[in-house]
Amino acid sequence: MKIRKVLAAGMICCISAQLLCACAEQQTESADKIYVGVTCYNRSDTFLEELINAFKDKMSDLEEENLDSVVTIRDAAGSQRTQNDQVRELIDAGCNVLCVNLVDRADPSEIIDLARESDVPIIFFNREPVAEDLQQWDKMYYVGADAKESGVMQGEIAADVILADSQIDRNKDGKIQYVVLEGEPGHQDAIIRTENAVETLRDKGIKLEKLNYGIANWNRAQAQNRMQQLIGQYQNEIELVLANNDDMALGAIDAYKKLNRTEAGMPVFFGIDGTDAGLKAVADSELAGTVYNDKDGQAEAMAKLAAALVTGEGMDEIQFREGKYIYVPYSKVTLENVGDYIKKEEQQSR
Ligand code: GAL
Ligand code: CA
Repeated sequence: MKIRKVLAAGMICCISAQLLCACAEQQTESADKIYVGVTCYNRSDTFLEELINAFKDKMSDLEEENLDSVVTIRDAAGSQRTQNDQVRELIDAGCNVLCVNLVDRADPSEIIDLARESDVPIIFFNREPVAEDLQQWDKMYYVGADAKESGVMQGEIAADVILADSQIDRNKDGKIQYVVLEGEPGHQDAIIRTENAVETLRDKGIKLEKLNYGIANWNRAQAQNRMQQLIGQYQNEIELVLANNDDMALGAIDAYKKLNRTEAGMPVFFGIDGTDAGLKAVADSELAGTVYNDKDGQAEAMAKLAAALVTGEGMDEIQFREGKYIYVPYSKVTLENVGDYIKKEEQQSR
């Protein structure tokens, strides 16, 4: 009887201790709950959409570390004004950290003012603000990648492919006639990628002749259109298409397919991003190569930084450049290693 009483008393003690613990846990949890407000320049952009999906996954992975989060995503659909309004709404709704993919990377001042007034930190991503703007307040960061690195890598892959295959110089004039499909004017990833890809090809000893370029704003349909015009103008002369991203390279391929060109009458195409469709096109040998824009790495860096900014823990584990920048490295994708990338993507989306 005595023993039973002692046991019962012990059990009651245990249960109340557990309840206390749970309560304390709940308290810290609610204090640390991460309310992320994300606004994106345009959700019809393939790479961005894949990056956002990866970010949502990384935020829910944080639950394993007892970090609860609510992620609210807004699409600015190409309007900076809309995006400014969205930031105001997200702050009013109680977001304690913002992830901003600027529409106009040269015009963040209203967003910065709004966030500073309410003391909500900002992680800019993928569209890099001008350095002076980022210096305006210490609670602003940038997560992205180094545009120059992707241009150099695209040039290196293209040089390897061209040097290994004499058929690419179809008219046998010792030069490679090329066109460039460019992203949005003024975007850090457009002009810098083009310049560095071309310069790298030249450094590798490849003689080039630029026929023309087309601006297609990262977009597959626009690239198809521009490419149709370029084919109309240059017929069989085009031997190489350098595209600032995979979607535009795929649009160029669409243009040739529409004209029923056989492989012998087609140039070689190179992209950047390693989107799902881009990787598949490399595996199918339609795209001679691409440069992997590490969306998982970028999404993870954003999620970790968002959590650290809200909880105040883990900031010292993050490695910044100049105290503000996180640049996730690119990597080269060709037929030889594309299988590894496809496998990795499949595992991540599980
Ligand atoms: C680039 C990417 C493009 C496009 C652009 C949008 O980094 O390569 O495909 O998504 O960002 O800002
Ligand atoms: Ca030639």
